[in-house]
Amino acid sequence: MSESVILVADDDHAIRTVVTQALGRAGHHVRSTGDAATLWRWVNEGEGDLVITDVIMPDGNGLDLIPQIRKRRPDMRVIAMSAQNTLLTAVKAAERGAFEYLPKPFDLNELVNVVKRALSESTSNPSAVPDANDLQENLPLIGRSPAMQEIYRVLARLMSTDLTVLINGESGTGKELVARALHDYGKRRNGSFIAVNMAAIPRELIESELFGHEKGAFTGANTRYAGRFEQAEGGTLFLDEIGDMPLEAQTRLLRVLQEGEFTTVGGRTPIRANVRIVAATHRDLTNLVSQGLFREDLYYRLNVVPLRLPPLRERADDVPDLVRHFLGNATAEGLPTKTIDGDAMERLKRHRWSGNVRELENVVRRFAALYSQETITVDVVEAELADIPVGSDRDGSNEDESLSEAIERHLKSYFDAHEGALPASGLYDRVLHEMERPLIQLSLSATRGNQVKTAQLLGLNRNTLRKKIRELDIKVVRGSQ
Ligand SMILES: Nc1ncnc2c1ncn2[C@@H]1O[C@H](COP(=O)(O)OP(=O)(O)OP(=O)(O)O)[C@@H](O)[C@H]1O
Ligand SMILES: [Mg+2]
Repeated sequence: MSESVILVADDDHAIRTVVTQALGRAGHHVRSTGDAATLWRWVNEGEGDLVITDVIMPDGNGLDLIPQIRKRRPDMRVIAMSAQNTLLTAVKAAERGAFEYLPKPFDLNELVNVVKRALSESTSNPSAVPDANDLQENLPLIGRSPAMQEIYRVLARLMSTDLTVLINGESGTGKELVARALHDYGKRRNGSFIAVNMAAIPRELIESELFGHEKGAFTGANTRYAGRFEQAEGGTLFLDEIGDMPLEAQTRLLRVLQEGEFTTVGGRTPIRANVRIVAATHRDLTNLVSQGLFREDLYYRLNVVPLRLPPLRERADDVPDLVRHFLGNATAEGLPTKTIDGDAMERLKRHRWSGNVRELENVVRRFAALYSQETITVDVVEAELADIPVGSDRDGSNEDESLSEAIERHLKSYFDAHEGALPASGLYDRVLHEMERPLIQLSLSATRGNQVKTAQLLGLNRNTLRKKIRELDIKVVRGSQ
């Protein structure tokens, strides 16, 4: 790349200097300015081969300039850089036709690489992108950590496409939120967003749920049912917990994705599928593939654009923004307004957050709802974050053990006791009974033997509770503690 002239606009002198030096070393010629007016004048006069512009400048907004630049100089590539690192900035940059968006601070090598790409890629028009005016300022995704920046950049590029996206991330990391953002800001946003949870549908109903059925297709099919594919026509179909899809349904889905059309259960005429597919799972699909539980060909069909949502503990810097956001939500819902002091925030940042953003959201909601003080202090945080050691030994030896850890410990010693041989069959029910007994016993004593209240507490039907009490031979003592 010889002697390309790059126009750099940024009101921060230090940034202009480092960018100019880095590009100079890479063999480019740079002209830089601190204001939008000068940049526009240069472009207008036919100067330069590439623009790198800051977003907020004293006399204008770099993003607003992009459409003008591209109109005047259709071949000109524009790279936007900004410290305003929200999803909205990334999306707007893509919408206005920026070649690339670089959140500050960025790595200078990265800049040089982007410039190289911008200068070498063909100057065919980027695909049409949705209108920025429709974007709400009310953003769904909070967090400015580098990890989230990367997500925003990928999202921004995906907005103008129909590419299939596979979102992977632990529970509570925001998979559904991202899927919705892809729809709400994408070109299909005027269509419907239909979410189907593969783990929640009984396997024999998945096919009719997804593809619909004709009247009389099977017993109980009294009317025609438009399946999820049909409901999502022109919009987005979100296949949640895709890792839990039974193999037969996977085969059917794969065929539909390959052929681009489907037939309803009991129907004969193929219907064209016009949906954008976004899938999500918390499971490791490559692992499921190697175990034979997930079809490899379906995996590759879905994994066109992989998006990995990082767990919250890998982006502790996002915690303060999220906390403020959730406190704001609580206030909007009519709960008292709270603030969090510095130590308390530090403590929240240090937590392991195994339930990710959802866990944080719940904790913050409890701050707003359960505490009378206006400022949340570190002792309140400690109290809320302390594990409730259900069923742990009173002598304190297992104070930090959770319920499932305790169960695991018991089961392990049970298996170990068989020394390689297998326990008698029927283990599942036996173990569940073991858990039911203390659960019902303790609930009964907490309600002083009141079976109506116990049934309510457990969320069981009263007759079911009575049956279980009989089966498990539990003594009910009324009025006891
Ligand atoms: N970046 C974020 N900004 C604001 N809220 C978020 C963010 N990520 C997640 N949330 C909130 O956290 C909660 C959990 O998010 P979501 O349901 O999208 O997670 P998920 O990955 O689908 O979880 P699961 O695997 O359990 O279904 C929601 O209330 C969502 O609004
Ligand atoms: Mg989810």
